[in-house]
Amino acid sequence: MRVLGIETTCDETAAAVVSTRPDGSGEILSSEVMSQIAEHAAYGGVVPEIAARAHVDLIDRIIRRALERAGTTMDDIDAVAAAAGPGLVGGVIVGLTTGKALALATGKPFVAVNHLEAHALTARLTDKLEFPYLLLLASGGHTQLIAVTGVGTYSRIGTTVDDAIGEAFDKVAKMLGLPYPGGPQVERMADRGDPRRFDFPRPMLGRAEADFSLSGLKTAVRLQADRIGAITENDAADICASFQAAIVDMVIDRVRAGLRIFRATHGYPTALVIAGGVAANGAIRRALARLGSETGLPLVLPPPELCTDNGAMIAWTGIERLRAGFQDGMDFAPKPRWPLDPGAQRVHNGKA
Ligand code: KG4
Ligand code: ZN
Repeated sequence: MRVLGIETTCDETAAAVVSTRPDGSGEILSSEVMSQIAEHAAYGGVVPEIAARAHVDLIDRIIRRALERAGTTMDDIDAVAAAAGPGLVGGVIVGLTTGKALALATGKPFVAVNHLEAHALTARLTDKLEFPYLLLLASGGHTQLIAVTGVGTYSRIGTTVDDAIGEAFDKVAKMLGLPYPGGPQVERMADRGDPRRFDFPRPMLGRAEADFSLSGLKTAVRLQADRIGAITENDAADICASFQAAIVDMVIDRVRAGLRIFRATHGYPTALVIAGGVAANGAIRRALARLGSETGLPLVLPPPELCTDNGAMIAWTGIERLRAGFQDGMDFAPKPRWPLDPGAQRVHNGKA
């Protein structure tokens, strides 16, 4: 099977071709991603209207390039998969409509993919991972712990009650005058700062449930920055290091809580998987690797280009869903909000 995947839910326009090998595993034949960071940087974040227009601009080129790099044409594609949400609706409409149009014009099956499901299943593409596993999905828009037990069966074990982790990194960067996206900038500054200079709060630490909260930490950083006033390079480095140390402690504690809940409800997971842009953070990766060796639980970290938004994860999810017997009609509507676990209707701050 050979599937074209299209991703336009945020600020990356992406398309990829993924095929299956005889043993059922996936092979990425091409994966083209165009980031719009430069277009949004001046505004310090993603501007939905600019994102939607950029997707319209780029989508046909990206798809053509993905087909070319894969050495294939639509004739040899077996199905089209497009992300149908959750995300910025203007962008979602661009990718979803393009995917439907291609499927309709070529008479191929169409799969509407949940972007979060695609992050959740990436570890099966990269590592042939067996179910069930625990996923920490941490990006600019999402922070969730999810029990992945099968294709289409996900239970949300924990979620943020306010901001996403990546969002907190971005906001701290903005407070310190660092460019967008803030995560990599804050990490770079943290490398040469003193993580013990400021004792920032670690919200939710020690709680039995596996939820996250970032806003108290963010406010503490803002108050500290205000107290200092004229912030030097050293102050900024110490703030970043102390902030990142608080995040690391919180992530480890919340993942521990998530593992306890997982074991009580689903038995032993095959692995702990991290996905989303925040998974690029070295301090978080190292801390989770330590947790993995301490608990004997394998840690699966897809390569950074497959942790952040891409078309390969959409194509792969298309393959997984087709194999499981799912297919979608041309009437499938874009879903700005689309929780992976419809039973867990705890929607905070407008985010699923
Ligand atoms: O998954 P992603 O590329 O896009 C979505 O949000 O869907 O994640 C981007 C987020 C941004 O908030 C960015 O600041 C954060 O991931 N990020 C990081 C790092 N690299 C990216 N956060 C912490 N440390 C990093 N090295
Ligand atoms: Zn994403």
